[in-house]
Amino acid sequence: MFTPRLIGRVRSPYTETKKIPKGPGAKHDAEGTLEILPEFEAGLSDIEGFSHLFVLWMFDRSEGFELMGTPPIDNRPHGVFATRSPRRPNPIGLTVVENLRREGPVLHVRGVDMLDGTPILDIKPYLSNIPQESLRRGWLAEAESRANRSGN
Ligand SMILES: C[S@@+](CC[C@H](N)C(=O)[O-])C[C@H]1O[C@@H](n2cnc3c(N)ncnc32)[C@H](O)[C@@H]1O
Repeated sequence: MFTPRLIGRVRSPYTETKKIPKGPGAKHDAEGTLEILPEFEAGLSDIEGFSHLFVLWMFDRSEGFELMGTPPIDNRPHGVFATRSPRRPNPIGLTVVENLRREGPVLHVRGVDMLDGTPILDIKPYLSNIPQESLRRGWLAEAESRANRSGN
């Protein structure tokens, strides 16, 4: 196993988890920045050409994990690996953000769902060649249709 390195921190408008949109229909269009440490800045070369990025980060303000949990979008429990719960055996978050612009070691992005100061572990270009019709959304699709039927 390896010891992860901190490559930078997220600057986001969210200082409290309750302010981050959750549940059915939640929209993630908040803007923030990814501030990369000087020793890793060279690794951002050529990133401007990608419209979207995967950001891997650490849930540094969650404790422990639970293998079954009930997400805010549903009233039924699901296994942790079938959810995006912050309480996981390895507290790693994954967010797709829109890459707005770069200023040296700082990336301006849209779509942050992390708390201000969240440690960044890695950034990769977002590329997906899975056709929309091949994607299945599991329990989430059922929870969304139940929520729509009940008018939530
Ligand atoms: C449902 S998780 C999804 C995160 C990411 N998009 C993912 O799929 O891994 C998003 C929630 O994580 C929590 N969160 C955000 N930043 C955090 C941090 N640094 N430490 C602990 N919890 C955090 C907030 O409650 C936020 O609403």
